[in-house]
Amino acid sequence: MNVSTKNPTQTKSWKALEEHFNTIKDVEMSTLFSKDSDRAHKFTITWEDFYVDYSKNRITEETMQLLLDLANELKLKEAIEAYFSGEPINETENRAVLHTALRANVNDAVFVKGKNVIPEINQVKEKIKNFTQLIVNGEQKGFTGKGFTDVVNIGVGGSDLGPAMVVDSLRFYKNHLNAHFISNIDGDHISETLAQLNPETTLFVIVSKTFSTQETLANANTVKEWFLKTGTQKDIEKHFVAVSSNVKKVKAFGILEDNIFAMWNWVGGRFSLWSAVGLTISLSLGFSNFESLLKGANKMDTHFKTESFKTNIPVVLALLSVWYNNFFKSETEAVIAYSQYLNKLTSYLQQGVMESNGKSVDRNGVPVNYQTGTIVWGETGTNSQHAFFQLIHQGTKLIPVDFIGFAQSLHGNQAHHDKLISNYVAQTEAFLHGKKREEVRSDLVAKNNTQETVDRILPFKVFEGNKPTNSIFINKLTPESLGELLAMYEHKIFVQGIIWNIYSYDQYGVELGKQLANTILSEIKEEKTSVHDASTNNLLAHYKSIK
Ligand code: F6P
Repeated sequence: MNVSTKNPTQTKSWKALEEHFNTIKDVEMSTLFSKDSDRAHKFTITWEDFYVDYSKNRITEETMQLLLDLANELKLKEAIEAYFSGEPINETENRAVLHTALRANVNDAVFVKGKNVIPEINQVKEKIKNFTQLIVNGEQKGFTGKGFTDVVNIGVGGSDLGPAMVVDSLRFYKNHLNAHFISNIDGDHISETLAQLNPETTLFVIVSKTFSTQETLANANTVKEWFLKTGTQKDIEKHFVAVSSNVKKVKAFGILEDNIFAMWNWVGGRFSLWSAVGLTISLSLGFSNFESLLKGANKMDTHFKTESFKTNIPVVLALLSVWYNNFFKSETEAVIAYSQYLNKLTSYLQQGVMESNGKSVDRNGVPVNYQTGTIVWGETGTNSQHAFFQLIHQGTKLIPVDFIGFAQSLHGNQAHHDKLISNYVAQTEAFLHGKKREEVRSDLVAKNNTQETVDRILPFKVFEGNKPTNSIFINKLTPESLGELLAMYEHKIFVQGIIWNIYSYDQYGVELGKQLANTILSEIKEEKTSVHDASTNNLLAHYKSIK
């Protein structure tokens, strides 16, 4: 297969980057700006309605060239080709990774094991479209003849986070259907949601690729019991649909085969919102908005596939992240969206980034001797400014930040929007320049402080600055631009997996907890006993004594 298995640290470009790092690690970005009046322009990519300014990073043209050399040396181009053409790049599960095919054009051809998958993708999309119309237009009704008012998505992980984030992010474009998401096995979560619903007018979408996830099945069964208090077994066919690749298990649950929306094993859970997993998105926003979301992602796919690496947004962002992770030894990166609509973006990205690249064994099965997956976190601006920005500004850790903002607000409250964006811009400026000793001193002196106060207070008021940021500025939050943004991060994850020589598309790390939970449950139910450590024994005994 066309994916390199080289240890990145053994490449010529990595060694060159190490040497280069020693010369640049203490350089002030503000000095680089004053030396080069063209710097901002050189390190800005404009594409479609995206304006990506990465000039506020601790880089020079040489840094970028060496990072691009690294990508070339590790055969990134060939890897992208393998990714898009359906090669089984998820080797540990012997699967292709084709969420990109889900948003390909209807006439494209993408082959998995010799079979073009586009016709079946088109078929499922047609089914989503027809079903959405029936429900949204009120042609398909509930068991008492009333139109649907609410949709409940029951799923967890990738079968929840993507649809929940998109529905919330694009709520400006929603129709009359109210979407709800039940994911947690926590019975209080499901009880709170059901308390708001009327079974006669609620549609349940059970989303589980495997249809064997404990949380989803438990929640689906509880919902079914709740529904059957009012409706009959026969009425289930009007109120329950499923998205899954496991037809047998869905039918055993009691859902009609006609009510199953297919998905395939070459779509990873955390990249599945573009498939029928996005059914709730289509229901809540309408099919044409769902299509626009896919169209945006497809545009970013084309950009990623065809653009030269130097001006390729996902490639550049991925390489910058490698630069901080592996050379500056940053452990985390923050994503701050200056839009309340993108409130759920970070939780969504956490699964994408950390489930994919949280790996410590390379593609040869050998433990890595370098850092891999970054920790991603964040909140919306300006809320985050009043919470954790203190640590980014004046703490001991170097935390690169992605600033995401939109030039236009959706409701058109310009005065608020100007304030919002001025905070966005001001923060990136503050991270760049900080506030130097002399500036702090003259401020304190101007406020008539005594010399003694000035000397004592001064160190606490200094901001070192030199904190890296990427400014991702988009014209407007639309289904299309959100699709572009999400695909941008998906490809960033891919590039980093290639550089780090790890398999980004399996998730064995979450399996152990699932197995152990089942063992512990049988013990709570007193069906069997197992041997544990003393701490686990005590926890179990404590729970059983007071539950
Ligand atoms: O938590 C691990 C995981 O396998 C995710 O990758 C996936 O999105 C989620 O569980 C849900 O799985 P399923 O769709 O099969 O219920």
